[in-house]
Amino acid sequence: MKQQYRQILSTLKPFVKWAGGKRQLMPVLNENLPKIFGTYHEPFLGGGALLFHILTKQNKQKCSLSDLNADLILSYTVIRNRVDELIHSLKIHEKNYYKDSKSYYYSVRESNPGDEIEKTSRLLFLNRTCFNGLYRVNRKGKFNVPLGKYTNPNIVNEENLRFVSAILDSNRISIQCRDFEAVLGDVKKGDFIYFDPPYQPVSQTANFTSYTDKDFAYGDLSRLVKLCMDLDAKGCKVLLSNSNSADVIDMFSKKPWKINKIQATRSINSDSKKRSGHFELLIKNY
Ligand SMILES: C[S@@+](CC[C@H](N)C(=O)[O-])C[C@H]1O[C@@H](n2cnc3c(N)ncnc32)[C@H](O)[C@@H]1O
Repeated sequence: MKQQYRQILSTLKPFVKWAGGKRQLMPVLNENLPKIFGTYHEPFLGGGALLFHILTKQNKQKCSLSDLNADLILSYTVIRNRVDELIHSLKIHEKNYYKDSKSYYYSVRESNPGDEIEKTSRLLFLNRTCFNGLYRVNRKGKFNVPLGKYTNPNIVNEENLRFVSAILDSNRISIQCRDFEAVLGDVKKGDFIYFDPPYQPVSQTANFTSYTDKDFAYGDLSRLVKLCMDLDAKGCKVLLSNSNSADVIDMFSKKPWKINKIQATRSINSDSKKRSGHFELLIKNY
């Protein structure tokens, strides 16, 4: 059993590819983690790259996780509570996709299932087969990404889904759909909060913020900055990712905030040649 658990931990990874996901930045994020902390809070959870990294290192870690995207949060809870039914539903998608990928993809994209298993298997299926694995919705909250060019997409990653289900099935982990500011009511001194919000646009063309039907606006950034100050005053350890934006640098220019410029790869540009290196910010108060 112990060996099985160790195997789970060494291969655990996010179950969705999420725009702005942090898998490629894991070495530098890892170097910037606090040495000790109480509960881990991730209020812009997305695909949870840092969460899974932390659980790989410390599987008993207490975690409080949230995101405003209701379909995403539903996926976490369905994977935790009903993974067998989910895998069964994904296998049906896989079978149909391989008969006629184009017409099947668009029929699933147009569908709007009410059942929670079907909703989650639709999200995971579209995530595996859509262009660039990019989750994006329009103002009506409708997923609007075209079919991707894959010859053999891994639609049912059964092993990883079971690993994720096993690790999330713990009373040490809470998962909620809510706005990021609610984290203030949950934290205690010594807790660690990682914020990975939709990034502040640095140019007219770099304004990807459509994870939900509401864009992340300048007012949200101001709320986030105020929240970071309040968390600092409570004695929490705060780590924040953002774009290399002059506004953000200015907002965190005072003590105790330390700003690191780190090299990153932008993975959501549709032109793979433009996904090369750029700088982004890693800001912390410890
Ligand atoms: C950059 S992504 C996080 C990516 C994540 N770190 C990963 O590794 O996949 C930002 C997330 O913030 C969520 N979000 C946007 N506005 C929010 C809000 N007001 N409150 C909470 N979450 C929000 C989006 O749904 C999205 O999942």
